[in-house]
Amino acid sequence: MSSESSRITIVGLGLMGAQIAQVFAQAGFSVSAYDVSEQQLQSGLDLIKSGRYGLSKSVEIGRLTQEKADEAFSRITTFSSLADALRDSDLVLEAAIENIDTKREIFKSAENFSKNTAVLCSNTSTLSISKISDPFNIETKKRIVGMHFFNPPQIMKLVEIVRTKETSENAFSAVNEVAKKIGKIPIGVLDSPGFVANRIGISVFAEASSLLEKGIASVRDIDLAMRLGYGYPLGPFELGDLVGLDSRLRNMESLYAQTGDPRFKPPEILKRLVAAGFLGDPKTKTGSRGGYYEYYNLKKPSEDS
Ligand SMILES: NC(=O)c1ccc[n+]([C@@H]2O[C@H](COP(=O)([O-])OP(=O)(O)OC[C@H]3O[C@@H](n4cnc5c(N)ncnc54)[C@H](O)[C@@H]3O)[C@@H](O)[C@H]2O)c1
Repeated sequence: MSSESSRITIVGLGLMGAQIAQVFAQAGFSVSAYDVSEQQLQSGLDLIKSGRYGLSKSVEIGRLTQEKADEAFSRITTFSSLADALRDSDLVLEAAIENIDTKREIFKSAENFSKNTAVLCSNTSTLSISKISDPFNIETKKRIVGMHFFNPPQIMKLVEIVRTKETSENAFSAVNEVAKKIGKIPIGVLDSPGFVANRIGISVFAEASSLLEKGIASVRDIDLAMRLGYGYPLGPFELGDLVGLDSRLRNMESLYAQTGDPRFKPPEILKRLVAAGFLGDPKTKTGSRGGYYEYYNLKKPSEDS
């Protein structure tokens, strides 16, 4: 798939979809974008233009020339009809809400309106790619792949390329190639709950929460242990605050439901924080009262000299 001739369709122009659209456009791909909400289409474009990792910011810090930023922006076309957005697409990436029926409906439309060779990718964090592809015929199943980006996708290098037992070698390697073309480092994963990064990351967070609940160490000391003892750039609670405690809770609930493994049972303290409006770092989570550090009124390790 070459960036000059290939058309990418992004379905769902929310936080992830918009930022991923920007990544593709900056790498030279033509991007068609669709969202069920007209308002989201506009705010998605605003995020691409003037978000924290958007084009204007990249120009401001000298990462991109104004000319390149304008070129990238002009490669993104928004559509209010899904059928129109999907037409002639070579790769469809759905980044819509985390709901299996929504994702299946999008792939059903892609089956009808995109090229019959198009690769159908899902950016889901918690749903099973095999379950999403369940209702489709084998020819379509071969084209369904997980393409899991990390937030913010403009910065984060990793993309998990998730294959099911039915995913064809062709589709899998096409998505790997595309990931490299947009400057990412892909890893191959066989579909399984939480894939690799979230499965391990959440295990660490779960263990950290258990130590906290047993009173063995404080939030700050647990974070310092992983920073200084294991060389993690952020401790498990700082990272939780950054990604958002409500999404941490949702991810744990999903992992627990899928695996039945008691390790992933959401910790009481996490549920308490979320219920009280502590949704994570207020800089990234609008309306949040803060995260673990605000709740316990502690100094963050990053504030140390
Ligand atoms: N937020 C993250 O950190 C993150 C990271 C990796 C993957 N993901 C995954 O990416 C996907 C999107 O997450 P997000 O955080 O961007 O959510 P979001 O709520 O910001 O965006 C979801 C978008 O989907 C749109 N939508 C809803 N129904 C639709 C439909 N039928 N057709 C088209 N668009 C529709 C909504 O209007 C909204 O704009 C989810 O599957 C999530 O698991 C999220």
